[in-house]
Amino acid sequence: MRALLSGAHVPKAILPHSLSTRLVLLFTVSTTIVFVLLGASLQQMLRMELKQRDVEELGSRVKVVIHHFDEISSPDELQRSIPRFADVAIEQARMQIGLVQGGNWLLSPARAVVSIVEHNGVAQLAGREAVEYVGPMGRRWWLVIVAHQWRWNPGPPVHAVIALDVTDATNVQKHFQNALLISGVAGILLMAALAWLVTRQGLAPLGRIAAEAERVTAQRLGQALSIEDAPAEVRGMVASINRMLERLGESFRSLEQFSADIAHELRTPVNTLLLQTQVTLSRERSSDEYRETLHASLEELEHLHRMVSDMLFIARAERDMTQITRELVPLRAEAEALAEYFEPLASERGQVITITGEAQVRGDRAMIRRAITNLLSNAVRYAPRDTAVAVRIDRTADNVVLTVENRCPPIPEAELERLFDRFVRRGDAPGIAAEGTGLGLAIVRSIMTLHGGSVRVRALPDGVAFELSWPTAGAEMTEM
Ligand SMILES: Nc1ncnc2c1ncn2[C@@H]1O[C@H](COP(=O)(O)OP(=O)(O)OP(=O)(O)O)[C@@H](O)[C@H]1O
Ligand SMILES: [Mg+2]
Repeated sequence: MRALLSGAHVPKAILPHSLSTRLVLLFTVSTTIVFVLLGASLQQMLRMELKQRDVEELGSRVKVVIHHFDEISSPDELQRSIPRFADVAIEQARMQIGLVQGGNWLLSPARAVVSIVEHNGVAQLAGREAVEYVGPMGRRWWLVIVAHQWRWNPGPPVHAVIALDVTDATNVQKHFQNALLISGVAGILLMAALAWLVTRQGLAPLGRIAAEAERVTAQRLGQALSIEDAPAEVRGMVASINRMLERLGESFRSLEQFSADIAHELRTPVNTLLLQTQVTLSRERSSDEYRETLHASLEELEHLHRMVSDMLFIARAERDMTQITRELVPLRAEAEALAEYFEPLASERGQVITITGEAQVRGDRAMIRRAITNLLSNAVRYAPRDTAVAVRIDRTADNVVLTVENRCPPIPEAELERLFDRFVRRGDAPGIAAEGTGLGLAIVRSIMTLHGGSVRVRALPDGVAFELSWPTAGAEMTEM
């Protein structure tokens, strides 16, 4: 038993998984407990009641018998009083009375009582307490035997035997018990059936919700489950399901948008490649011409390659698949190295890159470098000639922030947030070829999300500022 209770052998779910079966079962078990308790107490009450009645019956006759004994004052009178003793039991069919003196019956009760008395010996039975005996025919008797001795009587004492047949009372109890058992079982079955009906009725709204959920498809993700019909208890659950559907719908739409974007973005370079190849193959060409075409194709292919690997990176990052390593990255050193890399392009355009501040963050060095590279390449590419590009590293109470600022024609507020979307490009600054894929800022956003940080853009009066920020919990102070 202990081993059973200890859990090793107890099945994981003792109750069934179906809610209605569970409710019906619990309801039936409780009904059974109530019925059993009620039946037991009813039976006990009946037993007490019957016993009480018989005890009183016997008690009153015993009193009468004692009274008769007391009134007798001579042997003659005893002989004359015998009919009065017989009268004691006259109105009660279950009652028997007998008088016995030294083995002689002065007044004989029923044979069964005589045999009980003779079998047990009258002296042993004498006493005021009623005791139950089973007679020869299987009937049950309660016996009280009162002994009496008069001073004038030299012989053995006279015993009065007062017997009550209680067989019927026992039978009544048995019948009552059977009736209780039958009606109890019927009651329990009826309650179980009712419980089943009530549960079915009560849980019907869940079925309706399930049927509604059944109708949700990829095309109808946005269609919420109706919350008004739902019972109060499951309204919270329906609301969460609806919110989940909404999120799924959003992801689904962005996925659809993504594949549409990819198809659109791939079409132009693929078309160009196709056209170039067809034109080149349309007639015989010199090897120089072939080489030239291959060069042009290589450029397109490189562009395609970059786009595909960028998209893969974003897709992985958005699925949280990219495992990022966390090392201390000194932002200033990274920014300086990258500024040096962009220096030739910047100085060709008369631009100056300045770096101020210092802080360290914990994260993936290659990814952080990639984020800063994307911001710096944008700044150098989109800032007008002969302007400054400023990189600032600041520490606030909660964040480490790296800002890249550059001058540029004003960008309308409404367009600012959209810059982080995939494949969004605005007209390039004059003199710069439109070679971007529009994925640079989307990658920056993915990297920052993976680091638990964020990227935002602010419009300045004559330019723009992009801010990368890492929460200080994940960032490390310079002193460390
Ligand atoms: N520092 C900036 N100053 C002005 N405009 C910017 C700046 N950074 C980005 N933009 C605008 O935002 C658009 C999106 O930038 P993003 O880096 O995502 O793509 P891209 O630079 O066009 O292509 P890619 O970076 O993939 O080569 C750019 O086309 C440009 O119009
Ligand atoms: Mg870019």
